[in-house]
Amino acid sequence: MTDMRVSGQDYKAGCPPVDGEMLEDHGAAPEDGDDQVDPWSVSSSSAKGVDYDKLIVRFGSSKIDQELVDRIARVTGKTPHRFLRRGVFFSHRDMHQILDAFEKQKSFYLYTGRGPSSEAMHVGHLIPFIFTKWLQDVFDVPLVIQMTDDEKYLWKDLSLDECHRYAVENARDIIACGFDVNKTFIFSDLDYMGASPAFYRNVVKVQKHVTFNQVKGIFGFTDSDCIGKISFPAIQAAPSFSSSFPQIFGERTDVQCLIPCAIDQDPYFRMTRDVAPRIGYPKPALLHSTFFPALQGAQTKMSASEANSSIFLTDSAKQIKNKINKHAFSGGKDTVEEHRKCGGNPDMDVSFMYLSFFLEDDDQLEKIRQDYSSGALLTGELKKCLIETLQPMIAAHQERRRLVTDEIVQQFMSPRKLHFNC
Ligand code: TYM
Repeated sequence: MTDMRVSGQDYKAGCPPVDGEMLEDHGAAPEDGDDQVDPWSVSSSSAKGVDYDKLIVRFGSSKIDQELVDRIARVTGKTPHRFLRRGVFFSHRDMHQILDAFEKQKSFYLYTGRGPSSEAMHVGHLIPFIFTKWLQDVFDVPLVIQMTDDEKYLWKDLSLDECHRYAVENARDIIACGFDVNKTFIFSDLDYMGASPAFYRNVVKVQKHVTFNQVKGIFGFTDSDCIGKISFPAIQAAPSFSSSFPQIFGERTDVQCLIPCAIDQDPYFRMTRDVAPRIGYPKPALLHSTFFPALQGAQTKMSASEANSSIFLTDSAKQIKNKINKHAFSGGKDTVEEHRKCGGNPDMDVSFMYLSFFLEDDDQLEKIRQDYSSGALLTGELKKCLIETLQPMIAAHQERRRLVTDEIVQQFMSPRKLHFNC
């Protein structure tokens, strides 16, 4: 397989474009020793994972602080999702603006996506979708989900048909997260680009306003990358504008967009936010999540291309148990005696990290943290607790997915009017 990915060294996320036009949202260029975070790779030299506070400064975004979490709770009247309470979603762009408008009865829409590179999604991929579902419920807003089958064709050694099939298969997993069919449109780029003149017009507008030098600066493309890759960022940008979906928003070009995603996708939206005012559209707002770590440790994110680093949504109860017992990096001590005496380190322990994503009860999580730190709880017991949390969660997902028929997929993926009151 030809690996045409942009290499870590080539990548210069956050650099200003070299032809003199500065990106408004640019951050400082990465320096030696900085964590690597871009749409293609995530790595850190620390066992605790990426330094997210540093990343906020580098990317020029804003921290989701307690004040913002409290404000979301006030505006929605709902307990903040555990991802907000625990800093899983840690960074944002213009979320206060979204809330200011929402308080004045001005609605917005949600946009997120998935690059369908294989049949099976992993647990890490669920993070933005679980949170997006919560946002859809508490704000009662429409949602568009882009399946970038075109992107995967351009980047991977896969045929167009395979990528399109993965888009439909992955859509089943996304639907199984519980989205409201009356408020959700899921689209394959390969289908929608040809079916929607309005969408394609926005792609072309973005293409006209971003130079080759700019995408080289943002994404690290080189002269030998195919031209499909070079123009692809315009396709990921276009759903940020309401006029790309006339069937949902009619003539409206000014409905603001809020994008929940992990922070690896931010380079696309730094570019989008730079272009938006120049083509007469509002800038999309963003909510960024941290990464669900690989089983082997938080130095890298869970990634579908590393089978042993991932728990897949298709894994059986037995596979989940074996993977956690065999591969989940432990912050515990080498012997039981030493562990009892000195305690474990939950900040480096992958099982504890996973529980902090999925265990709903804050008090129970805190007790596990304290018991593990004191040595009262052993690594094997902590892993057992994680296994017992993940097995029923994934089994329930598989059951919901089994009920997603072809007709239901077809409904979600048909361009149509959604319930939307602006
Ligand atoms: P993809 O398929 O790589 O990832 C889909 C979504 O999952 C997030 N993600 C993760 N989140 C937490 N922990 C992880 N280990 C992890 N791995 C992936 C990604 O940030 C993303 O939100 N080009 C995109 C598809 C796309 C998109 C979008 C994503 C198109 N438009 C708008 C977000 C928002 C892609 O290949 O995502």
